[in-house]
Amino acid sequence: MPVPDVRKPMLATLKGEACQSPPFWLMRQAGRYLPEYRELRAKAGSFLDLCYNPEFATEVTLQPIRRYGMDAAILFSDILVVPHALGQPLDYLEGEGPKLDPVRNAGELKRLSTGNFHDRLGPVYETVRRLSKALPPEVTLIGFAGSPWTVATYMVEGGGSKEFAHIKKWAYSDPVGFAALIDLLVDVTADYLIAQIDAGAETVQLFDSWAGVLPVGAFRRYVIEPTRRIVAKIKAKHPNTPVIGFPRGAGLMYEDYAAETGVDAIGLDTTVPPAWAARNLQTRLPVQGNLDPILLVAGGEAQRKAVDEILEALAGRPFVFNLGHGITQQTPPEHVAALSKQIKAWPERA
Ligand code: CP3
Repeated sequence: MPVPDVRKPMLATLKGEACQSPPFWLMRQAGRYLPEYRELRAKAGSFLDLCYNPEFATEVTLQPIRRYGMDAAILFSDILVVPHALGQPLDYLEGEGPKLDPVRNAGELKRLSTGNFHDRLGPVYETVRRLSKALPPEVTLIGFAGSPWTVATYMVEGGGSKEFAHIKKWAYSDPVGFAALIDLLVDVTADYLIAQIDAGAETVQLFDSWAGVLPVGAFRRYVIEPTRRIVAKIKAKHPNTPVIGFPRGAGLMYEDYAAETGVDAIGLDTTVPPAWAARNLQTRLPVQGNLDPILLVAGGEAQRKAVDEILEALAGRPFVFNLGHGITQQTPPEHVAALSKQIKAWPERA
């Protein structure tokens, strides 16, 4: 079989090469800050209808690439399609975010079933297949899933949370019962990511958005250990597909996460000092991040200077430019255009 001889800066970087001008993409790069997204979203009906419509989901994935020439496209979907495919009722309420019928003990776990899991996610795999054909050859296709801990927070709290009281109480008071939920999520998340890779995803990212709310023992048990098991399962089937871990808020645990999970690259949240990451993480693996998404709302000189500081600290070694969290709805599209221009021009001085 001929090996495609196309250079993909994002994939090369994840495999440890350094590009002079770093590849970039933005978490949540497809979304409500783009007028063309809002238009298609209105046509699709609900947000979930959009996620499960391969034609529309493919189009929405491509929209930011056309505008800004990112080096990677991330599959358009959501982390909560996994509990949805396990049979947990899910709705997205305008202005309120996701709502699920909560699962709060071992008895309620029995309502979930893996029986129709891949059937229900069939449209997502179809979107990945379409994208792998539609993307320009130099653009890398990213698949993704939420990490077990983060997905479990939504499943147990029944939506977003500030205190995480229900899930922590369950995990601390009934570790054996709670382990059944985490074990289930480890298995289906690994299967889900493997199916995305089978369909054409070239790398996958695990979003652990709420990794930062746990004390050290629970962080090891519910963040590091499940991630390590998922990475091992993926590697057994697809040893050459890089896995990116994003343990948002991991703070002092970033190094242990990088050393122990087996991820190939690590996403930095907004609070990680780039110079610290250069010394303590980038010496071991490629890093990705970490512009404050609100700087992209502010724009102008503040944005330009912050981008420059990140590039100064991390570019020239294996580095993927990204935000430290998802892009927000209030982001003016022209600020993203300015960002793209600045990264592509690096290392030329402004
Ligand atoms: O990055 C991309 O462009 C790909 C698509 C993507 C979405 N969500 C689309 C989306 C990805 C990778 C996600 C991940 C996701 N979803 C995470 C992890 C990253 C993070 O932000 O911490 C989480 C925690 C979720 C769960 C989720 N989905 C929430 C809390 C919300 C509501 C908040 C909000 O922004 O409205 C969603 C909805 C959602 N997911 C939207 C989009 C574009 C907005 C829905 C709409 O169009 O009405």
